[in-house]
Amino acid sequence: MSRAELLRDRRVAPSILAADFGRIGPAVAEVMEAGARVIHVDVMDGHFVPPISIGPNVVDALREQVHDAGGWLDVHLMIQAPERHVSDFARAGADSITVHFEATPHVHYAVNCVHDAGCRAGVAITPSTPPGALESIAPDLDIALCMTVNPGWGGQPFLPETLPKVGALKELVGDDTAVEVDGGIEVDTAGPCADRGANLFVAGSSVFGQPDPAEAYAKLVEAAGAV
Ligand code: DX5
Ligand code: ZN
Repeated sequence: MSRAELLRDRRVAPSILAADFGRIGPAVAEVMEAGARVIHVDVMDGHFVPPISIGPNVVDALREQVHDAGGWLDVHLMIQAPERHVSDFARAGADSITVHFEATPHVHYAVNCVHDAGCRAGVAITPSTPPGALESIAPDLDIALCMTVNPGWGGQPFLPETLPKVGALKELVGDDTAVEVDGGIEVDTAGPCADRGANLFVAGSSVFGQPDPAEAYAKLVEAAGAV
C-alpha cells in the first residue's frame, strides 16, 4: 500500500497537540506501535486562532520517525494567509497540508501551493462556515476537514450541529476525497461521524489525554470502525 492510500482508509489520527511537548517523540512512538499511521499536527499562529502552538521545526523533528514507520504527517494550519507558509511545512516533511477556508481570500491559490509543494491538500471549515463554501474547490481537494469544535483548543466538547455538515461535505466531495473530522472526537462521537461519511478522525485528548494512549487509540478505532 502506498502511504497516500492511508487517506482513503478509515483512520484515527492522533493529534500531538494533546501530547506532552517534552516527549513528543515517545508519545508518537506509542500510538504508532498501537497501529496509528496518520499523525495530526496542529499549527496555530496567535492570529487566526488565539493560541500559538508549533511550527515547521516540530514537523521536521518528527519526519524521520513517522515516515520510517510508514506513517503520514497530516498538518492542519490554523494560521492566517497559510499560502505564505506552505513551502516551509512541505520542506519540513508534511505529507498533507490543510488550510482554513476562513484564513485566506485565496483558497484556490493556497491549494495550488500545497500541490506544487508536492503534498496532498485539504481545506477546513469552522462550525460557522457552510459546507457549500467548498463547492468550487471540491474537485481539487484531497481532504475536506469539517471542524467539529471551534478551532484553537483541544479538549472542547463536540458540537452536534456540525454533524449534518459532515454528511453534506461527503456528498459534495465524493468518494475520492477524504472527509476529516476534528474536535471532540471520542468513543461516542466517532461513530456518528463515520455514519455520515467521515474517514479521518482526529483525536487529541481522547488519545494523549488518557492514562493509556495506546488503549484509548484502540477503543477509538473500534468505535469509528477504523483500521
Ligand atoms: C483544535 C485542533 C484539534 C485538536 C483536537 O483546534 O484542530 O486538532 O487537537 O483536540 P481534541 O481531540 O482534544 O478535541
Ligand atoms: Zn486539528
